[in-house]
Amino acid sequence: MKIEKLVYGGFGIGREEGKVYFVPYVLPDEEVVVSPIKEKKEYIEAKLKEIIEENPDRTKPECEYFGLCGGCDYLHIKYQAQLKYKKAILQEIFQRIAKIDIEIDNIIPSENQYFYRNKTQLKVDTKSGKIGFYKKNLNEVVEIDKCLLVSEEINPVITNLKKVIPLLPVLPKEIHIFSNQKEILLKFIYKKEPRKIILTKDRVKKFISPLVVGFGDYVEKDGKIEKLRFVGQDYLIFDIEGFKYKASVDSFFQVNKFQIKNLINLVLKHIDYDKVADLYCGVGLFTIPASKICKEAIGVEISYQAIKDANFNKKLNNLKNVKFYPSSTEKALQIIKYFSPDIVIIDPPRAGLTKEVINQLVNISNLKKIIYVSCDPATLARDVKLFIENGFKIKETNLIDMFPNTYHIESIIVIER
Ligand SMILES: C[S@@+](CC[C@H](N)C(=O)[O-])C[C@H]1O[C@@H](n2cnc3c(N)ncnc32)[C@H](O)[C@@H]1O
Repeated sequence: MKIEKLVYGGFGIGREEGKVYFVPYVLPDEEVVVSPIKEKKEYIEAKLKEIIEENPDRTKPECEYFGLCGGCDYLHIKYQAQLKYKKAILQEIFQRIAKIDIEIDNIIPSENQYFYRNKTQLKVDTKSGKIGFYKKNLNEVVEIDKCLLVSEEINPVITNLKKVIPLLPVLPKEIHIFSNQKEILLKFIYKKEPRKIILTKDRVKKFISPLVVGFGDYVEKDGKIEKLRFVGQDYLIFDIEGFKYKASVDSFFQVNKFQIKNLINLVLKHIDYDKVADLYCGVGLFTIPASKICKEAIGVEISYQAIKDANFNKKLNNLKNVKFYPSSTEKALQIIKYFSPDIVIIDPPRAGLTKEVINQLVNISNLKKIIYVSCDPATLARDVKLFIENGFKIKETNLIDMFPNTYHIESIIVIER
């Protein structure tokens, strides 16, 4: 079949005898041979068997695990072309969901398409001791020696974990690694609480990495991860564009070390009024620099730990004109209305905003501008449509590539009354 286009999720689509096929690792206009693997109601998932005619945007993947490991979707696409396809996918999603033709004003590539992640989550096969990542759509571990996406200092940690972890009496199911390039934190996630402390600080430093300053044991309970104990320092300090941020191991922090400064600058560029509300603010990534420019700012965040970090960051950056609220955005709507912001920054999780949040925001008569940072184009399109129906207009659309070589799309849309 001929591949028509790429769609969100890392697939290309093609048609054969009236049926739609979803195929990974292909490119538009490629002539391919596929074999069906799963028949769904509306489409068939298929495996790429052979490429008869290649798209010139195709390149040889630099990673030997590509196709097997579920981490990357686009390593077969030249980096500039990845951006071109992400742009087309974003526009297509807006057209399909919001019935809007959007222009993409800026595309910000990652300075390096590799070695950008300051965080990774390794999976462990607790029976065999294999360490790596899950296969695409499967809970099966592909063993890896190194990952092209992680920051350079993380790869030696992976190599050593592979030596040490299989020797432990109880194996964790996941190991999370966090780095600010100078210091490293580790989280070991167990299926059941281990009966005794297995790793000591000295052993971790000696056998895993001298950069490790803290590590902790966690257990998975009812789909949630609970902290059992933490040894040493449980946070990292990030220095970005003259601002300092403390991010605890359990707080959200952006993953692409090259793009964080660009993300902040993109948001800051639009701060040109007095009162700013940063909703879903995390540790204050945008609130802190925004409050240097505006008169007064508030941050709202559901994670108590992240709010503690944000308050720490307020002091760390000598700020007085900012206040952080530990609350869901939904429960803080009265506080937000009372504050009456000129500008609202929104950076929600994939689910986007609730209708109630949108309805209440559009009712703030003072509100002039919304800076919507999103990692999910579909919920972004759905929410922007509602803002537009309530009298807002798109002023600027940016695609900032936070996740090179994967299908993920991060965008910032500025909308004004
Ligand atoms: C994509 S992160 C963005 C954080 C921050 N803006 C940054 O760039 O570092 C989303 C944040 O929203 C928080 N969050 C999730 N649901 C929330 C809710 N209903 N209300 C407020 N915050 C929420 C998460 O804890 C997380 O810190």
